[in-house]
Amino acid sequence: MNAWRFLFRNDRGPVGAGARLLALGLVLVLASRAPAAAAERAGGTTAFSAEAAYQHVVQLAAAIGSRPAGSAAEAAAAEYLASQLASYGYRVEVQPFTIQLYEERGARITPLAADLPPIETAALLYSADGTVRGELADAGRGRAGDWPPGALAGRVALVERGEVSFADKVANVAAAGAVAAIVYNHEPGGFSGSLQRRSAIPAVALDREQGLALRTRLAEGPLAVEVTVDASVLQRESRNVVATRAGTQSCAIVVGGHYDSVPTGPGANDNASGAATVVEVARVMAARPHPCTLYFVTFGAEEIGLRGSQHFVQALPETTRQTVRAMLNLDMVGVGSEWRIAGDEALVAQARAVAAALGVEARFAQAAGASSDHESFARVDIPVLFLHRTPDPNYHSPRDLPEYVEPDALAVAGQLTLGVLERLAAPDE
Ligand code: BES
Ligand code: ZN
Repeated sequence: MNAWRFLFRNDRGPVGAGARLLALGLVLVLASRAPAAAAERAGGTTAFSAEAAYQHVVQLAAAIGSRPAGSAAEAAAAEYLASQLASYGYRVEVQPFTIQLYEERGARITPLAADLPPIETAALLYSADGTVRGELADAGRGRAGDWPPGALAGRVALVERGEVSFADKVANVAAAGAVAAIVYNHEPGGFSGSLQRRSAIPAVALDREQGLALRTRLAEGPLAVEVTVDASVLQRESRNVVATRAGTQSCAIVVGGHYDSVPTGPGANDNASGAATVVEVARVMAARPHPCTLYFVTFGAEEIGLRGSQHFVQALPETTRQTVRAMLNLDMVGVGSEWRIAGDEALVAQARAVAAALGVEARFAQAAGASSDHESFARVDIPVLFLHRTPDPNYHSPRDLPEYVEPDALAVAGQLTLGVLERLAAPDE
């Protein structure tokens, strides 16, 4: 949990002034610049530049670094992206929203038996905080209906991982009266897990060996334990950066990708690569005609549950929402050996034609899954196209560095996106 502490210590740190401006929902309008002329000035060319896109990756992932949701670094990244997009002549809006972060300071299991030492462990993400005591009870895998209400009253439930989600296990034993839950691994070693939302009772994760040791000891006779979770929920701010160009027809297209990262790494591929490509596509499009209103959006707080894209969709007026022809999501487009393109059937067909024309091989699918920002749009029936490259051995790790991002892959992502945009310009397609 050191990463979080480090993060918060710096929260009002190096980029304070910029972050404060962003927090006001700054709108940058460079209306006097004709977009095409601005694009020429900004890059000198109206073709997608792999080098320019790669430089954005370097700025985001190396100069700024890890950009966890709600951090000062995330705000600095938003400021960088907003200034780039504004320099191409777009109307750029920084769209702030509130997020909740779970900060864990520690978790402990203390057996109330002289011969057993305390066990330092970790809370399940979003566990209730507090210290409780109770007799340990072997609660199997924590399935619904295993115990009638009250059967675990006042007990600390020892539950094996597997079969049932963490959230359901904890809710099930709490419903039977348990005051805390200890979830031990169903395979060797430790694990970390998330309850998705706040639990009613403290819930901690334990590695398999320590879990089995407690279970063996319990089989020999009663054992009381104390469980402590020291954690709290913090309110923070995140933001989307939205560049808009009004169209001449009542259609709109969103091209987006998240720019936040996990706390454990610099997020060069996940997803400086996608955000960088969105920005470079925006630069190119500034000089190209399109009948639809174009939104180039880099989303904040994706890694804690698609928060930025959820906010963008909620904030979109219903009348505008109905005109959105497509949402193109770029997430992890700089590393790997295979393109994956998934989503709405008609959009996948368009992408297939574009890929064929470019000579790009890709694997196409209809199901885009719920692992990234397109999901927020799919939920309100906006047709989506999800573009990514796979595999990335450094996913969510400290080794997700710019040196592994291939500029040529960014260029292919850019060409695919530009090609689909072009095809979507045709009326009624
Ligand atoms: N970039 C990933 C999603 C992804 C994974 C894209 C593999 C392409 C290939 C995204 O940032 C992520 O980590 N998503 C989470 C879920 C999200 C709702 C927090 C995930 O997939 O676990
Ligand atoms: Zn991502």
